[in-house]
Amino acid sequence: MRNMYLSQSMEDEITALSEQLMISYEELTLIYKLSEQLQQRKQFRELFMECANDLQELINADSLILFVKPNSKSKPIVMTAGSFPLSDEIVRTTGAYLLQRCQHTDKPILLTDLSAHPELVSIFNTVLLNVLAWPIVINNQQAGVLIVLQRSGEDEFDSTDTKLIATIARHISWFLENRMLINDLEELLMGLLSSLVNVIDAKDPYTRGHSQRVALIAMRIAQTLELSQNECDRVYLAGLLHDIGKIGINDSILSKPGKLTNKEFKTIQNHTLVGAKIISSLKQLKSIIPGVLYHHERYDGSGYPEGLRGGEIPMMGMIVGLADCFDAITSDRTYHKALDFADAIDEIRSTSASLFDPSIVAALMRYDIDQLRYELTTIPETKTPIPLTGLFAED
Ligand SMILES: [Fe+2]
Ligand SMILES: [Fe+2]
Repeated sequence: MRNMYLSQSMEDEITALSEQLMISYEELTLIYKLSEQLQQRKQFRELFMECANDLQELINADSLILFVKPNSKSKPIVMTAGSFPLSDEIVRTTGAYLLQRCQHTDKPILLTDLSAHPELVSIFNTVLLNVLAWPIVINNQQAGVLIVLQRSGEDEFDSTDTKLIATIARHISWFLENRMLINDLEELLMGLLSSLVNVIDAKDPYTRGHSQRVALIAMRIAQTLELSQNECDRVYLAGLLHDIGKIGINDSILSKPGKLTNKEFKTIQNHTLVGAKIISSLKQLKSIIPGVLYHHERYDGSGYPEGLRGGEIPMMGMIVGLADCFDAITSDRTYHKALDFADAIDEIRSTSASLFDPSIVAALMRYDIDQLRYELTTIPETKTPIPLTGLFAED
C-alpha cells in the first residue's frame, strides 16, 4: 500500500535502497561466515561447497569451478559446484586456459562472447555462456582461478557480483596459502620425528628397523580390522613412534645382554610414559598418545604402565602392542633367536592368547603372512615413510 506521506519517487528510492541493503547484508553474511569457517580450520572441500552454494544464490551463477595449480609440478586441485554439466575435460581445459590468461593480471577476466575463444567453444559446444574468472594468488604467484559460469540471457554479472567474487577468491587464496604453510611445517615435523626414530632404533643393533616394522604390521592389522583411512594412518604413526620414550635411556641398559636389575627394568618401563609426554607436547599428534602410552598393556592385566585389562585398553594400544610383540619374536634379540613367521603366529595363538585382544590377534592371522614377510623385508633402510594424508584431519 502506498504511504500517503511519501512521494512516489521517494518511495521508489526507499524500496531500491532497502533491496540494496538486503543484498549487502547477505553478502556481508557470506563473507563473515567464510572468515569464521577459515578460523575453524574446516576441510577445504567442505568450505568450498558451502561457499559455492551461497555464492550461487547471491549472484545467479550456474556453476563454479576452482582450479588451483600451486606449482608447475603439482597436480591441480579441482573443485566444482552447481547445475551446469561439467565433465573432467571441461573443468581441466577451462581451468588451464583461464589460469594461463590470468598469468599477467590481478584483474578478473570476463568473457561474454565465447566465439572469440575457440578452445572453450570446442569443449562447451556453445557460445551462450558468460564466464567470469578471478585469479587465486598464493605467495604472490597466480596459482589458480575461481571461475563462475552463467548461461547467457540471465541477469549478467554486475560490479557487485565481481566485487563479491573478488572477496571470495581472496579468502580462498589466504586459506590455501595458510594450508601450504601448515603442510610445510607438518612435513618438517614429520622429518624430525622420523630422524628421531632412526636414532632410537640405531641405539641397539638388535632393534634396527624395529619401529618401521611395527608401524607397518600395526597398520596392516588396522586395515584388516577395516578402520578408516585416518585411523590406519594414526595407527601407523603410533607404531612408528611407540618407543620414542627410549630416547633418554642409556644404551648400556637398552642393549644389555644379561638380566636387567629391577631398577633398570623400571627405567625401561618408563619409556611409555616418557614417550606419551613427548607426543603430548606436539598438538597435532595427541590422537596417537594411546598407541604410545598403552603398547605394553596386556589383555590379562599383566602389562604396564597402568595394568589395564581387557576392554580398558584402547584399541590403538592393543594393535601397536601386538605388532611390537610380533616383531620382537620374529627378530634376533640378545635373549632369543628369531622365530619364523608361521611359528610366531603359532606362538601368539597359543602362549600369548591371554595377552592380546582375540579380535586383534584374529586380524593379524587374517593378513597374508607371505605378503607381510615380503613387505617387512623390503622396507627401505634409511627412509621412514610418514603418511600425512588425513593425519591432521578432524573426523
Ligand atoms: Fe616399547
Ligand atoms: Fe618396541
